[in-house]
Amino acid sequence: MIRADLTDIPTYVPGKTTEDALKLSSNEVAFTPLPAAVSAITEAATSANRYPDMGAVELRGVLAEHLELAPEQITVGCGSSALCQQLVQATCADGDEVIFPWRSFEAYPIFARVAGATAVPIPLLPETQEHDLDGMIDAITERTRLIFLCNPNNPSGTTFTEEQFEAFMQRVPADVVVGLDEAYFEFNRAEDSPVATEAVQRYPNVIGLRTFSKAYGLAGVRVGYAFGNPDLIGALNKVAIPFAVSSLAQAAAIASLDAADELLERTEEVVAERERVAQIVGAAPSQANFVWLPDEDAAALAGKLAEHGVIIRAFPEGARITVTNAAETDRLIQAWEAVHNG
Ligand SMILES: Cc1ncc(COP(=O)(O)O)c(C=O)c1O
Repeated sequence: MIRADLTDIPTYVPGKTTEDALKLSSNEVAFTPLPAAVSAITEAATSANRYPDMGAVELRGVLAEHLELAPEQITVGCGSSALCQQLVQATCADGDEVIFPWRSFEAYPIFARVAGATAVPIPLLPETQEHDLDGMIDAITERTRLIFLCNPNNPSGTTFTEEQFEAFMQRVPADVVVGLDEAYFEFNRAEDSPVATEAVQRYPNVIGLRTFSKAYGLAGVRVGYAFGNPDLIGALNKVAIPFAVSSLAQAAAIASLDAADELLERTEEVVAERERVAQIVGAAPSQANFVWLPDEDAAALAGKLAEHGVIIRAFPEGARITVTNAAETDRLIQAWEAVHNG
């Protein structure tokens, strides 16, 4: 009944959770949505018998102001995950190639393969855990249609510089699309990083991807956005599921953008805590809301921390620990010390 190659395609694995445990496995924030966002959701719920605005006109208008782009340069999706998938569908036919860093967002290879494209993972540089941008360029073939870059990268928390990005773009053919995934943009304090809203103005083949799930604290309502050249945005819309962004999500996103300054202030706590966590666990500095321990026996570490009520994320390449607020860091440190000092 089912297409033969689906058996070999990995299933997306969400971060684990158990009741009462401290969940540091999904890069969520600990703060709840703002009261204004909750009211907007409640209000929108009263007209849930109607379909949402398929064009998300109001939300795109507010985003356009925030991003200093035109509404035609923006689309929204059911999380930026959906937009990553749409990007593959809009660019790739059977057998085309999608290049991405690895390890990175685990959905990239899944979306590529589900669309019938070939996934081309390029390992992170072993010493620094940064993108191997030269390796990605070397992997481009005439079948390459799409390259994902993840800045800061999930799970390594590393960034690349504007200069590296410019040098990279000079070598990418103009008909290959670059998806610049900035899911963790609001946590990034690296002053030399490229900024997708500026990059899309220079490169018609760059699409920026951001989300309300992380810094805006709306992971549960599912809304993300993509921006770039209107032709590419039109192509993303063509492959979208109609009405994918609910009226509740649109209302929550608008209310949250209205209070963006207040929300983004909250990222400062994450920035302070990530240094504390990195020091305790011996991780390299991170520009996102998690730290990364490559080469760690991640499954063993995750198992031991779980015995002390803390859930982290184990990958074959290492362990990722989400960073939230001071109280949760204290709980993590307690568990960490219990595991390491008995
Ligand atoms: C790098 C990256 N991109 C995109 C996403 C998708 O987030 P969402 O679908 O919640 O917007 C995630 C989620 O973890 C991520 O880590």
